[in-house]
Amino acid sequence: MSLLTLLLAALACGAPLASAAPLTLDADAPATANWAGTCFPALDFQKPLVMPSDNRNWWCDPSTEYAFVGFSYEVTACQSREQLNKEFSDIRHNFHSRYVRLYGACDNDGFYDDIVDAAWNNDLGVHALVWFGFNGDDVWMTRRDTLFASLHANPLAKFVTRGVQFGSEPLFDNVLPHAQLAQQVLLAKQNLSSLNIPVTVSELAYGYQERGGAQDVLDAVDFINIHMLPFFSQEASTANASWPLVMDDLQWFIDHGEGKKMYLDENGWPSVTSSGVQPNSPDAVADIKNERDYFMLLDKHCEDFKPVVGGGVGWFAHIYSDYMEPGYGIYDVDGEKKIWFNPRTHC
Ligand SMILES: *[C@@H]1O[C@H](CO)[C@@H](O)[C@H](O)[C@H]1NC(C)=O
Ligand SMILES: *[C@@H]1O[C@H](CO)[C@@H](O)[C@H](O)[C@H]1NC(C)=O
Repeated sequence: MSLLTLLLAALACGAPLASAAPLTLDADAPATANWAGTCFPALDFQKPLVMPSDNRNWWCDPSTEYAFVGFSYEVTACQSREQLNKEFSDIRHNFHSRYVRLYGACDNDGFYDDIVDAAWNNDLGVHALVWFGFNGDDVWMTRRDTLFASLHANPLAKFVTRGVQFGSEPLFDNVLPHAQLAQQVLLAKQNLSSLNIPVTVSELAYGYQERGGAQDVLDAVDFINIHMLPFFSQEASTANASWPLVMDDLQWFIDHGEGKKMYLDENGWPSVTSSGVQPNSPDAVADIKNERDYFMLLDKHCEDFKPVVGGGVGWFAHIYSDYMEPGYGIYDVDGEKKIWFNPRTHC
């Protein structure tokens, strides 16, 4: 089909996502009912000549988003627009990412517009974040309002923002009683409904479990962003031995998540310990080999993630670089790659 035909088909097509035909990442597959036979942010995505009027038929089917989907990316450094574009380009083109999941916060005016610019330039979707931080203050409310205002004001934002997360670990950190957190999720969904942007919470299984399951929060979220950090388990030893720990937490979300789409968004194994990164097991090993082994383990289990309820489990690597969080980076602070990292994006 020619591009023009595809665009005409796109203009005629106003079907909501739920009724779209299943999509595939295979570039040679026949075009589907989707707006141009490709979808955002598939690895074969082609920018349209004319943007659709809304994002209802824009996103890839969630069932194509299992295996490796991208990086957790901390923005506390308030990266310049140039640096964001450079690193997002690396993330997309050298690692075949489809998403970045934001972590931390930059409170500079217009910063989320820079994220949108870099994401759009590099065909990356964004899991945006309302960051609570660790000070127990109310600054998260301003961050929420600023982000929502930007999502409404920037016409490109709804085409790159795959979801808004509340995080990180608001239940584990007890920043809000779970009923209030659930209420925040519902209010956010209401605010963003005209933009068709879903809302989630970025949280550990243990964060829910220690709040009595917080089923009201799981009921409220549109999809589930899971923190998978088996290094901190009381049973942790090596990354290679951590699959049962991953499965334990994942099974909890399968049992309580009502079949919603799941991502492992804060997901990794540290190469060093630090004041904030201390194991709860005397046998837990933090080194570069185990950091690499953990991602290789997830990659090896691609076929196990693919059939999980909700359209399979997609995983992010936490985190892009050690300049963001010591020990978790794929890159060290000098920008040298610490580990070989080339996980599968489908299987
Ligand atoms: C969404 O939130 C922003 C920031 O608080 C506010 O300015 C805007 O009026 C809200 N829009 C809707 C539709 O609720
Ligand atoms: C972990 O397993 C992989 C193969 O599955 C192996 O290559 C690697 O050396 C193992 N790591 C350790 C620390 O033994």
